[in-house]
Amino acid sequence: MTNNTLLDKAIDSFQSNYPTYFNKFSDFLRIPSISADSQYNGDIQKAAKWLSDYLKSMGMDAVQIFQTERHPIVYGEYLKAGNEKPTILIYGHYDVQPPDPMDEWKTGPFEPTIEGENLVARGSSDMKGQILASLYAIESIMSAGALNVNLKFIYEGEEEIGSPSIVGFLKDHTDLLKSDFVLNLDAGMVGENAPTIVYGLRGLAYFEIYVQGPDHDLHSGLFGGIVYNPAQALAELIAGMKDKNGKILLPGFYDSVVPLDEDERKELARLNLGDDFYKSQTGVDKLYGEAGFTAVEQVGARPTLDVNGFKSGYLGEGPKTVIPSTAMAKISMRLVPNQTPQMVNEQLIQYMKEHAPDQIKWKVVQLSSDPASVANPNYFATQCFAKALKEVWGIDPIYKREGGSIPIVSHMKHYLGTESVLSGFCLPGDLIHSPNEHLHLPTWKKGILATIRFLYNLGNQDA
Ligand code: BES
Ligand code: MN
Repeated sequence: MTNNTLLDKAIDSFQSNYPTYFNKFSDFLRIPSISADSQYNGDIQKAAKWLSDYLKSMGMDAVQIFQTERHPIVYGEYLKAGNEKPTILIYGHYDVQPPDPMDEWKTGPFEPTIEGENLVARGSSDMKGQILASLYAIESIMSAGALNVNLKFIYEGEEEIGSPSIVGFLKDHTDLLKSDFVLNLDAGMVGENAPTIVYGLRGLAYFEIYVQGPDHDLHSGLFGGIVYNPAQALAELIAGMKDKNGKILLPGFYDSVVPLDEDERKELARLNLGDDFYKSQTGVDKLYGEAGFTAVEQVGARPTLDVNGFKSGYLGEGPKTVIPSTAMAKISMRLVPNQTPQMVNEQLIQYMKEHAPDQIKWKVVQLSSDPASVANPNYFATQCFAKALKEVWGIDPIYKREGGSIPIVSHMKHYLGTESVLSGFCLPGDLIHSPNEHLHLPTWKKGILATIRFLYNLGNQDA
């Protein structure tokens, strides 16, 4: 059979297995593998088991589940293509974000439901659907007898909490994980008709700031006015972290930030991701941000500081006259090259020392630290992926630096010396991390076809 016939056979196999694939996908989505909340540890184990069983059912070898201090890592391999063929390390995370706020879901977050062209469920787009996209592509090629690349698989259950176990695991398993490059489909696309290669990610440093005032909640009449209210103090501290122009005021915050060069600014400007795009994605009438930078520049290449949660005082129904004894805020910073999580930790503590009123006690706890990464878009495997995207969409992909974070990318580069090909079939409107997350099924199918072509081309090139 000629090579093209084999490719057609793989594509036909995908089309005819689609109903089965879809059902399996739904089973995977029904497991509430929420990594942040320890109540779901049992479900995290179930999801890891589900994936390892799936790899076994595909005929993968050496499938195993590595327990860690938090959530397990699933490994598997297929090394039968021979030494001359490339080895691709396929990455994914089977954990999902908490579904909260629950009231805003139109259907149960773990009851996958079709709505028009979308499949609605937590994790459908970020990233259980992306995990299965590559597995279904592999199965399709296998059924055509045309799998001629070596594969390794690593699936973690901690990505959404900052991958705390991953550095230890990479250090301990450098041989096991040895590969030519990583395929990571946890990044997304700019639009339905804009296949995307992501060549940069921001890092993330995540903190909780605890403030303590009086040693118990006080009657706000009997004691109001004579003690520094910790909610007020924390609100003032947060307010002081930025100026009116959106500049972050932690001491030395921008000192190590690599400036955007003019060529890159020109490239970003050509993407056509203007204010209207971001307004339509967010539902705000007016954008905000760092003066002197466009929205797309800020999202890809400038650091941020954001409040992710604030807790203090009485939050139940009706009034309760109380001065809270404590306040807590969750603060995240998105980092760009060459900022480090340690650096911003020190800057935050320095800021607190300089600005916290002496009537309160405070404590900063760092929850996750993940450096930014930038890759060379001309890397050979990235170009192979770009070619496959073009074969399916009929247009050249867009190259973009993304604002989100995937901790393992910089760690794999650092500890394994391995580059990642970053792409994926998640759309900006998929509501990832939000209520009613969904996956656009026609885009997902095209993505699977592109992944089939990518793996096929890599294994069956004459060159
Ligand atoms: N898949 C996302 C990141 C992403 C989305 C990258 C779209 C590019 C395009 C990933 O699952 C994610 O949400 N990561 C977290 C990481 C954090 C908890 C360390 C994030 O960015 O908030
Ligand atoms: Mn995510």
